[in-house]
Amino acid sequence: MPGGRGDRDPIGQGGAPLSRPASQATLPHSKSGLPDLATKVRISGKPEIRGGSGYARLVLTTAFLCCLAASASLAAAGPPLRPFTIVGDGIPASLTDTPGDAVRGRAIVADRTKGLCLLCHAGPIPEERFHGDIGPDLAGAGSRWSVGALRLRLVDARALNPDTIMPSYYRIEGTARVGTPWRGKPVLEAQDIEDVVAYLATLRDGQTEGSRP
Ligand code: HEC
Repeated sequence: MPGGRGDRDPIGQGGAPLSRPASQATLPHSKSGLPDLATKVRISGKPEIRGGSGYARLVLTTAFLCCLAASASLAAAGPPLRPFTIVGDGIPASLTDTPGDAVRGRAIVADRTKGLCLLCHAGPIPEERFHGDIGPDLAGAGSRWSVGALRLRLVDARALNPDTIMPSYYRIEGTARVGTPWRGKPVLEAQDIEDVVAYLATLRDGQTEGSRP
């Protein structure tokens, strides 16, 4: 599509143009790129409101908005996170009782609407185009890191590096700026984490295709 938005390079990597929607490519900037809504609010009440009615209306409106917010967050809240223990630089114990499925994990990593990993990482997933180069190449990750270390990097990369731009995939607190569908829920479920960990563990040095463990 010549001249279309898809021809731009929204995350400034240079090289091949990105054809995915810009909305999927703006994640790295979400920390700083949000408009400051508070500065955009304008009082638009009608000037003829007199006496206490304006105040009463304000109180009612505020109460309504609070109820709405409360019910929305209740509705969005998922099951509580499974407990886990960080030991050293990893989480040695599985989050679930079901062993990870590496084939399913690979699909999550490749899925641009779910894992979003390829937005920032390259990996041995040749059928997907336009891999990112913000994070390290995932090839060989299973040789560089133990399973426990891989698990912690996915669960909460910020536990290791508070300034990382890698999202915390299994964390709820501290993600106040996430969109409504994700509020109160981790980005990935516990079993998704285990599946992705199982896949990453298959990515050994010198291997070019990690899909078949
Ligand atoms: C917004 C960008 C971003 C996304 C999305 C992202 N990562 Fe990362 N990731 C990074 C960065 C940057 C690092 C480098 C270390 C750091 O900053 O914490 C990293 C580090 C890693 C590491 C350690 C790599 C190494 O060899 O040192 C692994 C493994 C990893 N990410 C896996 C994933 C997986 C799997 C996903 C998807 C479920 C994912 N990442 C999504 C940015 C991202």
